[in-house]
Amino acid sequence: MLPIAVLISGSGSNLQSIIDRIEQNVLHAEIKVVISNKAEAYGLTRAKKHNLPTEVIEHQNFSSREEFDQAMVEVIKAAGAEAVILAGFMRILTPVFIQAFPNKILNIHPAILPSFPGVHGQAQAADYGVRFSGCTVHFVDEKMDHGPIIIQAVVPAYTNDDGQSLGQRILKWEHRIYPQAIEWLAQGRLKIVGRKVEVENSPAVFVQVDENEPALVNPGLERGF
Ligand code: GAR
Repeated sequence: MLPIAVLISGSGSNLQSIIDRIEQNVLHAEIKVVISNKAEAYGLTRAKKHNLPTEVIEHQNFSSREEFDQAMVEVIKAAGAEAVILAGFMRILTPVFIQAFPNKILNIHPAILPSFPGVHGQAQAADYGVRFSGCTVHFVDEKMDHGPIIIQAVVPAYTNDDGQSLGQRILKWEHRIYPQAIEWLAQGRLKIVGRKVEVENSPAVFVQVDENEPALVNPGLERGF
């Protein structure tokens, strides 16, 4: 079991997908703590429903980003977590945090990186008029939405989409690829080679050709995800 900390700022639907896969025994991780920088985040309610330890660490109570990050590092280490899962956590992390968990921090972003980094990736893509968008799980490095890419899922974008409608289509796939990426990390199957990530015994591309929900996922999803 990989001991993980999950960091959230909002609804926590990605947190829920991780909890569900753990409870189904498909994802071999244990959530040691859920941390939110916002007291009102609904994800905290989700965590409590599953009897998971939670902590609220509000960034505005700290005089610098580094002090806020150091407080989170201490809570995560005290909880015994070895990897950190950013699940809709909307704060930029400093080297203080990133160097505390080298190559053990994952993030999910609602766009096909390197396109549309930053906030509102779904709306940026919809407004730009792209024909495809999707989501990306990557290792976190010191630049925002930048580290080596583990897995991406691609979905179509339509001319009548806005950030909301495209975001809903993307979110369904976030809930599938994020637990899969964490499982690969837990299994020790991810190797970072420069900017690239090798997935040991990388599964073939997963293709869904349902006319309502077409999607491409690379590397492919394994059983249960
Ligand atoms: C997700 O769409 C996630 O990809 C995005 O925030 C949402 C959180 O939803 N993250 C970012 O935009 C990070 N740059 P959730 O709280 O329901 O998981």
